[in-house]
Amino acid sequence: MSDTTAPQGVRPDRLPEWAALGKHREELGEVRLRELFAADPGRGERCVLRVGDLYIDYSKNLVTDRTLELLRGLAAATGVERLRDAMLRGERINTTEDRAVLHTALRAPRDAVIEVDGENVVPAVHEVLDRAADFARKVRSGKWTGHTGERITTVVNIGIGGSDLGPAMAYEVLRPWTERSLDFRFVSNVDGADLHEALRGLDPARTLFIVSSKTFTTVETITNATSARRWLLDGLGGDRAAVAEHFVAVSTNEEKVADFGIDTANMFEFWDWVGGRYSYDSAIGLSLMIAIGPERFREMLDGFHLMDEHFRTAPPEANAPMLLGLLGIWYNNFHGAQSHAVLPYSHYLSRFTAYLQQLDMESNGKSVDRAGAPVTWQTGPVVWGTPGTNGQHAYYQLLHQGTKLVPADFIGFARPVEELGELAAQHDLLMANFFAQTQALAFGKTAEEVEAEGVPADLVPHRTFHGNRPTTTILADSLTPSVLGQLVALYEHKVFVQGAVWDIDSFDQWGVELGKVLAKRIEPALTEGADVPGLDSSTETLVAVYRSMRGR
Ligand code: F6P
Repeated sequence: MSDTTAPQGVRPDRLPEWAALGKHREELGEVRLRELFAADPGRGERCVLRVGDLYIDYSKNLVTDRTLELLRGLAAATGVERLRDAMLRGERINTTEDRAVLHTALRAPRDAVIEVDGENVVPAVHEVLDRAADFARKVRSGKWTGHTGERITTVVNIGIGGSDLGPAMAYEVLRPWTERSLDFRFVSNVDGADLHEALRGLDPARTLFIVSSKTFTTVETITNATSARRWLLDGLGGDRAAVAEHFVAVSTNEEKVADFGIDTANMFEFWDWVGGRYSYDSAIGLSLMIAIGPERFREMLDGFHLMDEHFRTAPPEANAPMLLGLLGIWYNNFHGAQSHAVLPYSHYLSRFTAYLQQLDMESNGKSVDRAGAPVTWQTGPVVWGTPGTNGQHAYYQLLHQGTKLVPADFIGFARPVEELGELAAQHDLLMANFFAQTQALAFGKTAEEVEAEGVPADLVPHRTFHGNRPTTTILADSLTPSVLGQLVALYEHKVFVQGAVWDIDSFDQWGVELGKVLAKRIEPALTEGADVPGLDSSTETLVAVYRSMRGR
């Protein structure tokens, strides 16, 4: 490993910068946002970053200038920028899998040079993008036909985790840019109900399947793809030649793709230096590219790249991913916050937080440091949230008056999408809620204010809002492909910053493995009553009860 990579074993909680933050937290006591705003009338204008199309207001966070200075000191001491530069240079910073981490190369311009083991990977990235674009155009134009010569009208992406969440999320986000004559469905769950519902009413002759799997061994994906192949062949009279016309693949595993019966000429490649949860801007986004067209897809990649360049070049005090990452560390490690809410005020972003859950929780849900020693500090938060205003009528009560500290990002847009027509008139009401919520969370309502409204004394405590609930507001003019790219890259790099400070490997996911292995062991017990040695008494009994419920 190069000596420019941040050293492993920098235990952040033993650094003087960590201690200084702890002391600062104690000295600050309870930060009152009312007081911070009163003492600094320009806070709302000053505590803002503008990056690309994003306007990021962090003034409603429980921080002073000194807090941010100390947090940046921690980032410097833990080598965040050095690790960032090592990542961008293609060093193998995913040490447990001995892999480079180069999702930034997926959106680099054609003339960029990014090397892995001495080889520039950018030409290969563009070669695959070009092939995918060519394919997408053929499907969109009807030039690509199915086995019976009919044009494709439905595209079904089969994948899971990073091979599903990204394209499924982005398809929802960018629906207004999609080719509406085509229908898109996303199948991920090994529960047969997922595929069953997705295939309902479809005509096999007009259906194209994209099997998306980095490894092409993921049991859910291969099971669903096999069932889909059976459905297709049953529907088209059993001619196996149909598979090559109705199935394409996105994978790193050519051999397995060929074994499945997919023509490898219709396989779109990506590479082991792209993590699953960082992959939807690779060919994993093929379904999205067909939906929105290659030009819009490129605009989205350019949005990602804009944020990559910002992350690479902006000084720490003006660096948005650095700022969001450090704010999260402040709450997570110095305020005991367990979770982080992402609350988009856009129906189109309905799957955005689910996407971020994998990005953040699979990356930073770790409890050993990069050298393998147990961490003695908190790592990644629980990430959750759904679009406003629905959440307001569900769980915001807890955000406003509960006992838990839940820092939240509010994401909103100035303009409704054009095609809403008359319904666009509802947008100001949506955004009035957006602004009102962060105001209420920050400043609350004091008992005196409640009393002054004539509320009976016994109800005053119930109607008092403590305030000081921290939020960050991210506002953009409108939700475009480029803005989506900027937002996703912002969160990717935020997660990176936090993983670097916590000295964990944000790019492996060994925690997912154990459940997979155990499921394989348990399955024969369910189907054949096979004896599984070493089962605990709870699981053994549950298996027996399940079998008797199934009449086995
Ligand atoms: O959940 C574990 C995981 O390996 C994810 O990281 C990945 O996105 C997903 O499974 C799917 O993997 P594949 O693309 O290889 O099917």
